[in-house]
Amino acid sequence: MKIAPSILSADFANLAHDVAIVEQTGVEYLHIDIMDGHFVENLTFGANVVKALRKHSKLVFDCHLMVETPEKYIAELAMAGADLIGVHIEATPHIHRVLSQIKEAGVKAEVVINPGTPLTAIMEILPLVDQVLVMTVDPGFGGQAFIESTVSKVARLAQLKQEAGLDFEIEVDGGINAETIEQVAKAGATVAVAGSYIFNASDPVEQIKLLKQGAKG
Ligand code: DX5
Ligand code: ZN
Repeated sequence: MKIAPSILSADFANLAHDVAIVEQTGVEYLHIDIMDGHFVENLTFGANVVKALRKHSKLVFDCHLMVETPEKYIAELAMAGADLIGVHIEATPHIHRVLSQIKEAGVKAEVVINPGTPLTAIMEILPLVDQVLVMTVDPGFGGQAFIESTVSKVARLAQLKQEAGLDFEIEVDGGINAETIEQVAKAGATVAVAGSYIFNASDPVEQIKLLKQGAKG
């Protein structure tokens, strides 16, 4: 299981410092939550912060777009150094076009699905994606409680992936801790985002160890 620390819960005044702390543990991803105050009721940062962090980190920059009209942000994010861009199925009626735009920009493409959206909504575009993000909370804020019913959704997606012979990663995001990571790992998730569990603790390095142990069951 790959771990993707979410900087949403890091110290915004010391981002490079917090990223360096998690990077030295050997995690693979850095999860960057881009919110516009419209698609979700919260506002964070954009391509300028991705560009600034790019100079300080070699991690896979996993950019989770929680914005309306996601197509407007792709070129700028790709230029800023995003490695992967995730777009909510709920944020566009033209997901096929947006995913193609991401790939044309030379970036890996991800579709994101909210807890209340059925898996059937993304069936047609599974062959196009490098990663599917199954939200395990409703997006917008860190520190929310894990929604248990999403475990079976991850399991159903993993089964669909196997049956179709596809090889996308399955990422989960929201309420991940040493216990919930075990449940989603068993269900077939391959990447776990964790924000508050890592950064709200006094020792983020220890928290990452606990997540890795949890994922092994
Ligand atoms: C929520 C964000 C998450 C957030 C997760 O909308 O997409 O990435 O950082 O935070 P925790 O791990 O605290 O639930
Ligand atoms: Zn996220």
